Amino acid sequence: MTDQTALSFASKTAAGDGVAVVFAEEGPKLSPAAHDLDKKTGGLLARAAQITGFKGKKGTTVDVLAPQGIKFSRIVVVGMGKPASFGHEDWLNLGGTVRGLLSGREGASAHVYLEPVKGEVSPADASSFALGAQLRGYTFKKYKSKTPKKNGNANDDKTLKRLVIHCADPRAAGAAFAPDRAIVDGVNLARDLVNEPANVLGPAEFAQRAKALIKAGVQVEVLNDAALKKLGMGALLAVGQGSDKPSHVVVMQWKGAGPKGGAPIAIVGKGVTFDAGGISLKPASGMEEMKGDMAGAACVVGLMQALAERKAKVNAVGVIGLVENMPSGKAQRPGDVVTAKSGTTIEVLNTDAEGRMVLADCLWYTQDRFKPKAVVNLATLTGAVMVALGKEHAGLFSNNDELADWLIAAGTETGEKLWRLPLGPKYDKLIESKVADIKNTGGRWGGSISAAQFLQRFIKEGTSWAHLDIAGTAMSSVDSDVNRSWGSGFGVRLLDRLIKDHYERR
Ligand code: BES
Ligand code: MN
Ligand code: ZN
Repeated sequence: MTDQTALSFASKTAAGDGVAVVFAEEGPKLSPAAHDLDKKTGGLLARAAQITGFKGKKGTTVDVLAPQGIKFSRIVVVGMGKPASFGHEDWLNLGGTVRGLLSGREGASAHVYLEPVKGEVSPADASSFALGAQLRGYTFKKYKSKTPKKNGNANDDKTLKRLVIHCADPRAAGAAFAPDRAIVDGVNLARDLVNEPANVLGPAEFAQRAKALIKAGVQVEVLNDAALKKLGMGALLAVGQGSDKPSHVVVMQWKGAGPKGGAPIAIVGKGVTFDAGGISLKPASGMEEMKGDMAGAACVVGLMQALAERKAKVNAVGVIGLVENMPSGKAQRPGDVVTAKSGTTIEVLNTDAEGRMVLADCLWYTQDRFKPKAVVNLATLTGAVMVALGKEHAGLFSNNDELADWLIAAGTETGEKLWRLPLGPKYDKLIESKVADIKNTGGRWGGSISAAQFLQRFIKEGTSWAHLDIAGTAMSSVDSDVNRSWGSGFGVRLLDRLIKDHYERR
């Protein structure tokens, strides 16, 4: 669920109650606000710092409860280290760190006096801080049946209600934060979709959630399985045929640049709402994680929501393939040959290599219909990408060096990091089939690469294309300063940044 905490900006000196958060730099050198609170509490902060050995290092804190002589119930001094060298990601992570210190237990409000020892925090940096705080505030409690006791006592509801960020120019910070609010909503929407269990969120329900974007001004079409048959999406339909839940494709269009904006950028997502592996059944251990095999599609929906909410001046198309990969008497078999929309025939060697089959038809349809400027697809495509890169970088494959560099740069700026892996004719050979045009697995070595080669078979000559393998970063995510959710919402901030920097009309 989206953070329940209302965030606002106020002047540097405005009073507050509840928890006060102030800052120190290496030394420790206290910020003016910290210094002021230290004076008002008779030197309490300096003493506490000394007792705990606090030196103002980045990420370290001093916590003081029930300080005498002031209204605040708690003061936290947060070390900034050396903020002079901070970039967007540092402010973002600092916001996340601070939000992580606030539970709501010591008061319904928290007041962050965001200032270094000397100078001021710019509106853009205050906004990055706020973004980090909001992202960290996300929790998914939908299925926790115990809610705070409603006995009329407000003190029983221990959640943080208000977060006020005090800074030099609160009006400008608020204005800078307007687009970031849209990003928070987009990321949290993606997280909600990934965290949702597969009995609640099948292909039809996912499509329904995507339809809600109409409210934000996105055009949404849902193609049902009859429509997909007519379109000839034989690869996507083969994956879904073992499930009782019919497959869907959703097409989302945001026309923020208008007719003069020209061809759109297209984002395509893998939306396997549950990947049991099909007849090539996965082992039981860890199979529950495969409810997150629609994280690519979730990112696309979250991104389209963010673009619409911040009224981005871009023409963007989102296409997601929604299927459930199940074993049954109707399921596809290893050895089957199916025909993709492009006409390419595929020998299905392993029904667990299903994501590439879903994307094959979505990619072809997207290029056919929209003639996009560029296509970026996201998919929790291979376990092998985690063997190669762990969980810190997503795998990037591209046929266009400029697009690849733009994506890597956007990843560095947002902290959603990418690492480029190779494509090439020798790897392409791995998916040649004896009976059909290609087969859906390329053997044991370089599994992420042969999967990417498979996708490239469905990219037309002249289309700029990038594939992000997000199996390690979008689900079962490692904790970070800005994320404690199982589904991280990976890719929304990354692609929003790519679009902002390179595809938006100014
Ligand atoms: N959805 C999985 C990939 C995956 C694995 C995502 C672990 C997240 C965590 C994908 O459909 C899959 O099963 N890939 C196979 C491919 C193989 C059969 C060629 C894999 O990675 O083992
Ligand atoms: Mn699979
Ligand atoms: Zn899968």
